Amino acid sequence: MNIDDIWHTLLLARLWVRQGKKPDNDRGYGLNDSRKLSALSNGDRRTLLSWKQSIGWVSHSGINPDIQDFLDLYLPICNVFPEKPFFLGHLGQGLDGYIATRSGHSHYVTGPENILHLHRMRAMCDAVLVGAGTVLQDNPQLTTREVEGENPTRIVFDPKLRLPLNLNVFSDKQAKTLVFYDETQVSDAPNKIEGIKTIAIPMKNERFAFDELTSVLHKHKLMTIFVEGGGKTVSGFLEAGLLNRLQVAIAPLVLGEGMPGISLSGRQRIKDCLRLPHRVFRMGGDVLFDCDLSNPDGQTEADHREFSGISRVL
Ligand SMILES: NC(=O)c1ccc[n+]([C@@H]2O[C@H](COP(=O)([O-])OP(=O)(O)OC[C@H]3O[C@@H](n4cnc5c(N)ncnc54)[C@H](OP(=O)(O)O)[C@@H]3O)[C@@H](O)[C@H]2O)c1
Repeated sequence: MNIDDIWHTLLLARLWVRQGKKPDNDRGYGLNDSRKLSALSNGDRRTLLSWKQSIGWVSHSGINPDIQDFLDLYLPICNVFPEKPFFLGHLGQGLDGYIATRSGHSHYVTGPENILHLHRMRAMCDAVLVGAGTVLQDNPQLTTREVEGENPTRIVFDPKLRLPLNLNVFSDKQAKTLVFYDETQVSDAPNKIEGIKTIAIPMKNERFAFDELTSVLHKHKLMTIFVEGGGKTVSGFLEAGLLNRLQVAIAPLVLGEGMPGISLSGRQRIKDCLRLPHRVFRMGGDVLFDCDLSNPDGQTEADHREFSGISRVL
């Protein structure tokens, strides 16, 4: 089975979850001859997934370990079907914790495998969200151009509407873009940006009020939100207790000094710091920590080999 078929299967499984379609739980599933996701007979070598009522899609028993690792990474995201917006954060950082150099240059901190992963995460989510600093510095497209899958809606946090309109997210027409702003700081919105939806969100403690934010996302049917950076934006979600999942890819790179990744108000004692339930994946030369914050008091996923002590991920 090649990676394109596996990814295609996951996208279809994700689509079923998004559409609330419940499979027949007694059967194994995979791609049929028409590349559609369907129930396959026992012993069919194309079987990749099974359905469990309490979890959703799980990998079919007995598949080879390389495929298993790939499924382990994406199935928890594939199964997300929230009642309120679900936020997944991601940052790629060097060994010293910086996500960009002091001048803001960050292309690329992590390797091509992690960049591909970002595109896959975008394809799994309804929206990709970034802060004004990232859009200004990187001029990203925030599309899925390196993988199969639809472009998500792009959300830009630009409270002062300070970003120039020639940037890709406003001008390339590759995907819908929503810009969230603070109407108390802006006099000539909301129609400042032609063809782009601007949405006023009230501020609280210098951040968008999260209740209003989640209700606007809900209204737009944007339920899975991939918060792709930068550090201030991801940290804001983490500090507010809104992140359901945090992925940090660590590259064997030393930046010396630069833009910080996660930055929260400090704690006095280690026992008061956040120690997160996690899984670890090797991604080319990088290591990805995939942390589940939905249930910080307990482990919530089936495979907890990492928790039992020292184990090899490479
Ligand atoms: N390695 C990586 O994974 C990665 C990923 C993305 C970006 N980057 C790099 O990170 C740097 C940018 O990161 P950054 O931390 O400086 O900036 P950022 O997070 O991209 O943007 C921060 C700005 O977005 C707005 N914002 C964010 N959260 C908000 C909230 N909750 N409510 C209201 N407004 C909010 C504010 O805009 P105002 O300033 O207008 O108030 C804030 O100053 C760039 O150098 C980029 O290349 C690296």
